Amino acid sequence: MQSKAPIVVVLGTGGTIAGIAATPTDHVDYKAAQLGVAYLVAALAATAGVVVETEQVAQFDSKDMDFATWRRLAQRLEHYASRPEVVGIVVTHGTDTLEETAYFLARVVAVAKPVVLTGAMRPATSSEADGPRNLADAIAVATQGEAGVVVAFAGWVHAARDVRKIHPYRLDAFASGDAGPLARIEKGRMRALRGWPTQDTVGIGALPADASAWPRVEIVTSTAGANGRIVKVLADAGVQGIVVAATGNGTVHAALELALVEAMQRGIAVLRSTRCLEGGIVGDAADATPSAGDLTPVQARIELMLRLLPPGA
Ligand code: SIN
Repeated sequence: MQSKAPIVVVLGTGGTIAGIAATPTDHVDYKAAQLGVAYLVAALAATAGVVVETEQVAQFDSKDMDFATWRRLAQRLEHYASRPEVVGIVVTHGTDTLEETAYFLARVVAVAKPVVLTGAMRPATSSEADGPRNLADAIAVATQGEAGVVVAFAGWVHAARDVRKIHPYRLDAFASGDAGPLARIEKGRMRALRGWPTQDTVGIGALPADASAWPRVEIVTSTAGANGRIVKVLADAGVQGIVVAATGNGTVHAALELALVEAMQRGIAVLRSTRCLEGGIVGDAADATPSAGDLTPVQARIELMLRLLPPGA
């Protein structure tokens, strides 16, 4: 018989939250993605008074995230969000590409329920394990938040649009830059700090079923001594889009800019974001290449991929 209690579904994809090390004092030398999501949920002391269901969608270190898994994740979100008794969905994820998956899902899946990504900076075996707190908080946000994709981490709720991983080791490894977090989580209660973002999605139907057919977009960085040779290599290799991680307020080394303009003349789409750690490109002064505004380079790459999707995939 089906439960009438509100349900939160936790989808597992691996990461450090599911990692194990040889000893409790090993916080750095561990293997990510070893424990199943059902185990992680069963180990929680409390789950905000909801029934929790789990599904293992993937099990890997998130540096290896791929398009096929993104599409499957989007499909499972849509599936669970359509069940009336499900109030929200949590995704456990490695922290290294968590911001990319959050942005991708936020731009693809229209959901009428909260979707909350979380992870951990210490493996599950660590004496400093942060996974259980983050997972319990994410489940609480899945019951209290508004519709859309957010990240719950280290006591903060971040919008998918703003969140960035800012530290490779600290427990409080994510931030929302100038925008600031959406909410704080205090003893399982969410305290809103600003309005929840609205959704603007392309829909799963836009994604080709064959992940190898997704547009190929690469990122190049404008640096001292840059030249345009990498752009020519990418163009010859058949990429459809190039994001340039520009300096400061969107400036690009002259040699690289020339190569990007030539690439555009060959039909390759180019988008210019800033490599600055916070903020985006300000102003819309005419430039040789189009601006990605306040998108980070990895967000701009996803955006360009979505723009380049074949019609009616
Ligand atoms: C990963 O991204 O899967 C490993 C690192 C982490 O989760 O912190």
